Amino acid sequence: MARERTISIIKPDGVEKNIIGEIYRRLEAAGLEIVAARMLHLTGEQAGKFYAVHRERPFYSDLVSYMTSGPVMVQILEGDDAIDKNRQIMGATDPAKADPGTIRADFASSIEENVVHGSDGPETARQEIAFFFSDDQICPRTR
Ligand code: CMP
Repeated sequence: MARERTISIIKPDGVEKNIIGEIYRRLEAAGLEIVAARMLHLTGEQAGKFYAVHRERPFYSDLVSYMTSGPVMVQILEGDDAIDKNRQIMGATDPAKADPGTIRADFASSIEENVVHGSDGPETARQEIAFFFSDDQICPRTR
């Protein structure tokens, strides 16, 4: 099993619901370690750039509005199989299709407002980590 890093975002609806701690609890209980974290309020330009891959999709402008509607909490998770592990803990994009006990099944209100984001593969993880963090903002666990 490969040791990986991935990006996790608690989106504005997750921050509003005050469940940052609950989400961290689930991630840590699964053995994932937070090696960097920051809260920020994305600008339209930042959110548009982050989700540029969805530029042509009909939901793109609503997605940018949603992601800029309040602060987000962004963290780098590290651990064995971190990318897939985080995605399993989040559940399917559409909460109606998410497995019971996942974050989205428990807290998301719709496919648009789905509480969390996670990188979908190693290359995306690398790009998303560089989008939010410089190397000196990442703290490898030394104990
Ligand atoms: P996320 O996993 O962050 O990736 C893209 C986001 O677009 C998704 O979560 C949702 O917040 C949003 N979205 C809105 N509508 C859709 C849709 N029909 N399919 C996928 N993502 C959607």
